[in-house]
Amino acid sequence: MPDTITITDDRTGKTVTVPITDGVFPSSALRELDKNLFIYDPAFLSTAACRSAITYLDGDNGVLHYRGYPIEQLAEHSTYLEVAYLLLYGDLPNESQLKTWSYEVTHHTFIHENMRKRFVDGFHYDAHPMGMFISALGALGTFYNDAKNIFDAESRHKQILRLIAKAPTLAAMCHRFSVGLPFFLPDNSLSYPANFLNMMWKIGEYEVHPTLERAMDVLFILHADHEQNCGTTAMRVVASSNADPYSAAAAAAAALYGPLHGGANEAVVRMLTEIGTLDDVPAFVDDVKEGKGRLMGFGHRVYKNYDPRARIIKQTAYDVFEVTGKNPLLDIALKLEETALEDPYFVDRKLYPNVDFYSGLIYQALGFPVDMFTVLFAIPRMSGWLAHWDELLGDKDQKISRPRQWYAGPAERDYVKLGDR
Ligand code: ACO
Repeated sequence: MPDTITITDDRTGKTVTVPITDGVFPSSALRELDKNLFIYDPAFLSTAACRSAITYLDGDNGVLHYRGYPIEQLAEHSTYLEVAYLLLYGDLPNESQLKTWSYEVTHHTFIHENMRKRFVDGFHYDAHPMGMFISALGALGTFYNDAKNIFDAESRHKQILRLIAKAPTLAAMCHRFSVGLPFFLPDNSLSYPANFLNMMWKIGEYEVHPTLERAMDVLFILHADHEQNCGTTAMRVVASSNADPYSAAAAAAAALYGPLHGGANEAVVRMLTEIGTLDDVPAFVDDVKEGKGRLMGFGHRVYKNYDPRARIIKQTAYDVFEVTGKNPLLDIALKLEETALEDPYFVDRKLYPNVDFYSGLIYQALGFPVDMFTVLFAIPRMSGWLAHWDELLGDKDQKISRPRQWYAGPAERDYVKLGDR
């Protein structure tokens, strides 16, 4: 069987044959047929907008690899900083590379005093931390004019370090502001996740529990990248105009904020709280089937099987609950999962728990307010966004993102004066 596809334009009889490589054929085939012929593909269901060597995802079989490494192995053996290096530079660091990388990240964790005082103080007392975080990313870029030198490899490396290092600092700043607590400075003697937990919770005597530090690190690893999702696509689209990485990351974070994307972890906990008791689970599932809302934390554009991250998070949740005590919403979540996975509505549509179904329960057990959940997703996703940014800038096939449209408005008509309308 030839690995080609032949497309015939029945209007003209013109035919074009192009190769299919890894299940993909180039859209240049259409341009060859007729340069004004476009594919109508809302939400990019059948469009690959780039070639990427970062993350591999097989949604039918529930497989996720970062640079070829299965997510299960990374979650078990590595740290988030190792994974961030892997995503960005293509390979796991050796000992000396990891030492340098960790040192560099650790020594970029502080933010300018004006960010902490003047910038954050301008927010209303009940501002949502994710809204603050998105704004903080854009504002951070104004402190680094060298960020505009995006074709300078050294400058790119500097911005990567800054964004990865400062993301937890900004996140903790947003939280502390929203609860009226004084800001706590980064402690460079701590690991990446421990430093974050320390900045979040330090009041008087506080020591990060090693189990919780590891759980945070595992959650960071699981959220670090997920190929061309909505947020990463926003990052690439904005970066394709050669905008600086702070502006592009702010756009990516804004996309992540939505409840159909990274905002789902927040929506899951609200949903479980609303359900309230085990007895109310079947009625809730019936309502979803009747179209009254969605089962948040279920379903995925690409996974038509159990999200491998959800499986690892479920296990991590039990480790955390051993230290913090069980989250009372866990039983409702388990019952909901069991009910949905036995119901033909969900089975037929291949709707399984996604990464957000159990992550909120851990975040809540760790003491994070629900409003912080999407911020917790954004911290590690920064390394994925930046890996895609770097890849995009080195990709000769890329140009400024500019899709076509299928115009559906009125045909040309003459202007009607105000008095004649
Ligand atoms: N609950 C109930 N029904 C659902 C759900 C759900 N969570 N998800 C999809 N469906 C149904 C749809 O109603 C549709 O049914 P139909 O064929 O009878 O019309 C069918 O399954 C296909 O759904 P689509 O919306 O076409 O799937 P799409 O790929 O566009 O959406 C999405 C994927 C947005 C994740 C969706 O499953 C959803 O809304 N899930 C809940 C929100 C969520 O958990 N988001 C987090 C995703 S993971 C992440 O972004 C980190």
